[in-house]
Amino acid sequence: EDSERAHLIEAHELTAKLYNYLLMNTTHGQPALEYLRSRGVSDKQIDQFMIGYAPPEWDTLVRFLEKRQFSQALMEKGGLFIAKGDGSGYLDRFRNRIMFPIWSREGKVIAFAGRMLGEGQPKYLNSPETTLFNKSGILYNFHQSRALMRKTRRVVLFEGYMDVIKSWSAGVHNGVASMGTALTEDHAAILQRNVEEAIICYDGDDAGQAAVLKTIPLLERVGLKVQVAMLPKGMDPDEFIAANGEHVFIREIIEHPVSVTKFKLLYARKNHILLEEEGRKNYSLEAVGIIARLESPTEREFYLKQLSREVDISLESLKQDCFKHWQQLQKMKPQRDNNDNSWNNGRNEN
Ligand code: UTP
Ligand code: MN
Ligand code: MN
Ligand code: MN
Ligand code: MN
Repeated sequence: EDSERAHLIEAHELTAKLYNYLLMNTTHGQPALEYLRSRGVSDKQIDQFMIGYAPPEWDTLVRFLEKRQFSQALMEKGGLFIAKGDGSGYLDRFRNRIMFPIWSREGKVIAFAGRMLGEGQPKYLNSPETTLFNKSGILYNFHQSRALMRKTRRVVLFEGYMDVIKSWSAGVHNGVASMGTALTEDHAAILQRNVEEAIICYDGDDAGQAAVLKTIPLLERVGLKVQVAMLPKGMDPDEFIAANGEHVFIREIIEHPVSVTKFKLLYARKNHILLEEEGRKNYSLEAVGIIARLESPTEREFYLKQLSREVDISLESLKQDCFKHWQQLQKMKPQRDNNDNSWNNGRNEN
């Protein structure tokens, strides 16, 4: 088992180097390199994230690893090869894709994500779950961002590989991304051991904003302070940086996150037309429900005042409704605060 693991890691490390070499030093890699350049990816970024290229042939990697005596069955098990349907051998899993190595927390290559050059489906093809690669336990770029995460006690969460890479160059050296799946409880637990604060910077499209809403409670449940760095409608960090530059991204987006409550209020407001009576009333009630979840009376009043101005309803009425919600919430609250701190126990080992 241990030696299988070691062999698989060695194969992944060699494969990452091969793909990187093919991208940078061969004519086969030229279109991929041009694609990356067209997206503003620099040689420095390619180098730091060991980006590569898997050529279109079906057996480039099979032949490469065969020559080095790796067991083909093991390579299939590890997700690098695919067994041919007729049982006559193996194919490369990744073909004609830009390759992003995925590192373990210890900094070993354990998987890949392969992106199509241009448009098409699936845009990203990821390694399957293997004994090495457990998606819910891996965050892209964790190994490089861990040092600053621990130092600043803060992490920035992105959706995509490209967002992590571009933000790194902009100076965000504590950025990670989950692997094309939603953030999991395991991810939250890993983060909790390294930071106190999380800034969620997901894509500014509907999917991204909905994902923010789902990620917030996961992080809050492990005790992290959460804020949201919001992007203009429809833009992701990579696109924002391409359009506005690194400095503007840092100054206007990363350094100006909004509170969770503010985010939820903005999110709720999108579903209502405030110019219409019904919309205004329904939004007000929804907003009051969000504000009622705040523990601090000062914070509640702060947001209620804003709301009062926004919807032109008296602070007094909003306060009354808010208090009713708040009482409801107190009743519904399990005694969790008193006797269930289990989620926080035994998770401080690092
Ligand atoms: P996005 O669709 O936002 O892609 O998915 P992106 O990161 O902006 O990609 P570019 O900029 O077009 O290259 C966000 C993340 O979801 C996962 C990947 O991890 C991606 O980075 N994903 C997306 C997949 O795993 N497979 C897909 O087909 C698409
Ligand atoms: Mn997205
Ligand atoms: Mn995106
Ligand atoms: Mn895109
Ligand atoms: Mn993108």
